Amino acid sequence: MLSNIVKSVTMLHTLVHALVVLGAVVVDAAPAASPYDYIVVGSGPGGGPLAANLARAGYSTLLIEAGGDEGDNPTYADIPNFNEAANDELTRWDFWVKHSDDPARDLKFEHTTWDTGDGTFYVGLEPPEGAKLLGIQYPRASVLGGCAMHNAGVCSLPADDDWNIIVNKTGDTSWSAANMRKYFKIIEKNDYLPAGNPAHGYDGWLSTSVADASWAKNNSLPATKILKKMAELTGQDPENVANLVNSDILGEYENADEITSFYNMATHASKEGKRSSPNNYIRATLADPAKYPLTVKLHTLVTRVLFDNSTTPRAIGVEVMEGESLYKADPKHVDGTKGPISQILANREVIISGGTFNSPQILKLSGIGPAAELTKFNIPVIKDLPGVGERLGDNYEGSLLALGQSPVESGLITLLFRTPSAPTKKRNIYTWCGAFSFEGFWPGFPTNYGPKQYECALVHMAPKSQAGSVRLLSADPQDVPEINFRFFEHEGDKDLHELVEAANILREAWQAAGEPVLPFDELHPCPKGTNCTDASQAEYFKLQAYSHHATSTCAIGGDDDPMAVLDSKFRVRGVQGLRVVDASAFPVVPGAFPSCPTMMLSAKASEDIIADARKA
Ligand SMILES: Cc1cc2nc3c(=O)[nH]c(=O)nc-3n(C[C@H](O)[C@H](O)[C@H](O)COP(=O)(O)OP(=O)(O)OC[C@H]3O[C@@H](n4cnc5c(N)ncnc54)[C@H](O)[C@@H]3O)c2cc1C
Ligand SMILES: *[C@@H]1O[C@H](CO)[C@@H](O)[C@H](O)[C@H]1NC(C)=O
Ligand SMILES: *[C@@H]1O[C@H](CO)[C@@H](O)[C@H](O)[C@H]1NC(C)=O
Ligand SMILES: *[C@@H]1O[C@H](CO)[C@@H](O)[C@H](O)[C@H]1NC(C)=O
Ligand SMILES: *[C@@H]1O[C@H](CO)[C@@H](O)[C@H](O)[C@H]1NC(C)=O
Repeated sequence: MLSNIVKSVTMLHTLVHALVVLGAVVVDAAPAASPYDYIVVGSGPGGGPLAANLARAGYSTLLIEAGGDEGDNPTYADIPNFNEAANDELTRWDFWVKHSDDPARDLKFEHTTWDTGDGTFYVGLEPPEGAKLLGIQYPRASVLGGCAMHNAGVCSLPADDDWNIIVNKTGDTSWSAANMRKYFKIIEKNDYLPAGNPAHGYDGWLSTSVADASWAKNNSLPATKILKKMAELTGQDPENVANLVNSDILGEYENADEITSFYNMATHASKEGKRSSPNNYIRATLADPAKYPLTVKLHTLVTRVLFDNSTTPRAIGVEVMEGESLYKADPKHVDGTKGPISQILANREVIISGGTFNSPQILKLSGIGPAAELTKFNIPVIKDLPGVGERLGDNYEGSLLALGQSPVESGLITLLFRTPSAPTKKRNIYTWCGAFSFEGFWPGFPTNYGPKQYECALVHMAPKSQAGSVRLLSADPQDVPEINFRFFEHEGDKDLHELVEAANILREAWQAAGEPVLPFDELHPCPKGTNCTDASQAEYFKLQAYSHHATSTCAIGGDDDPMAVLDSKFRVRGVQGLRVVDASAFPVVPGAFPSCPTMMLSAKASEDIIADARKA
């Protein structure tokens, strides 16, 4: 019934555009109304759930995804295979990024990657003669479900203030942390707490579960001794650690941002370890007997957005190139391969959800971005928006890694804490510790140092600098843009100091491990046999920090902010009928892990877009 009403409203919506501005050429638009109300580009945590929700609300929706569907492939479906998934050529897009404007500094990154010319990579500091520099690998997944199909599935919420700052910037109170909880509850299908917990949802599409932490009850385990010492060093009760490790990381707390605590480790997976992602929701929507009007077009690269020529240009559709491995970040791409190009129109809106690297690229190829940059590549300017592709931000990640004299038997320890020099009362570090090694990304990551490896992985949750950028290298949509994170550009010394403080606290806790684990032979940041100073550690983190949570290249901002790309309803400023819904929309890095926050943002966008449609 509802969907019928919606359809008749849609038919009243007439297409007023007469011309399509296509590159420099103006061509006739297709005269008939499109079969699609909405076109969504990209099926990750931003676009995937949004397309499903629009279709479920009765709007005919086309979801376009450059990759294929690996939902049944165990490499992707079973969360413990995540490292294999992120290395898999089947879906991998390799972005070779820079960490700074200083090539000499970047060349000191231990996992710098080179093309040897014989089809293999060299990773390290002494490349063979003739090898070509690629840069620092930053993997992304091009597949139905986006990076939520190859990530580790860690589900964590932003700081409350990461939402509240959007209220401050835009005046839109619907972004308050208290209100955003609603969207978490809409998407969540909690798989670890008894029904009725008011902070949680039980009927959504995203399964959440937590790791077993019962090992922490065993006081004789070296890991429990470390845990107790960590408690002491961070102002928690060492006698209560067996309970504290079950604190609900997805719970709702007053003054949450100021709490230092151990937590359970939540993932977007079922308790049986099956990955839960937009892929499941899209497939469930397609399979639903209600026959929701969702069409999914795989292996299709969107090359630009099409606009009419109204005074305020309106997005009326997209241009696509069809085929597999068309984008040059795809390691399977064959030089010179192209696919047929066509145009697909939308009656209502185009929504870009290509992720933090691709959404700004698509906008720029479409004539929306810094005018000087577009003009350099002969792209006609539809709207001069200087913020597109700027303010790229990411967590700084690093690790304390060592080999014990014997294995450190344990499960994971998850701790969110505040280091002494943090500028506010807010906690700044998310760490997870266990018998693993994770040192960032390069082809073939991670290194397995054997059963004695022990690590605390560190995420700085609130980087003070967001000076990175995604900029075009050409007007060719198959080309990859230039990505430079400019790590530590602003107040970098402070963030480095906070990372060092964190490492020092954790290292001190490790010394409680006792026999037979001690002494730990540290690999970094203080390799055995070197002098471990704050300065040496800061230098280590400056050169070796890595990241994989890029955001903010199409940031939401206020009317008075010239660098704002979106308004608070995800609308691209200065044009009509175009929104961006993905991790690029966050004005500040949303806590330690962006996947669940992006799915919350997508649920909010769904509600906002449907509300607008019903108003019209
Ligand atoms: C190895 C790895 C591990 C991670 N681990 C975690 C974790 O444990 N927890 C966490 O919270 N986050 C993690 N992340 C980050 C998280 O997965 C991403 O932040 C999140 O997926 C971003 O969602 P998105 O919708 O913005 O973009 P994406 O997930 O990147 O989705 C974008 C989609 O758009 C498609 N696309 C792009 N351009 C085009 C185009 N021109 N035409 C058609 N389609 C296009 C892509 O193919 C892709 O499927 C990890 C990321 C990586 C790479
Ligand atoms: C928002 O603005 C208020 C009033 O100026 C301020 O007290 C608060 O700290 C700001 N919050 C954030 C997250 O910026
Ligand atoms: C605690 O851990 C020790 C060391 O691994 C083990 O020998 C012991 O059986 C464990 N105790 C319990 C109650 O599980
Ligand atoms: C836009 O359309 C108007 C009216 O049809 C036409 O006069 C004008 O030349 C067009 N402008 C462009 C840039 O195509
Ligand atoms: C460490 O520092 C001390 C004191 O400055 C110095 O004597 C020693 O040689 C240094 N050791 C190493 C391995 O650099």
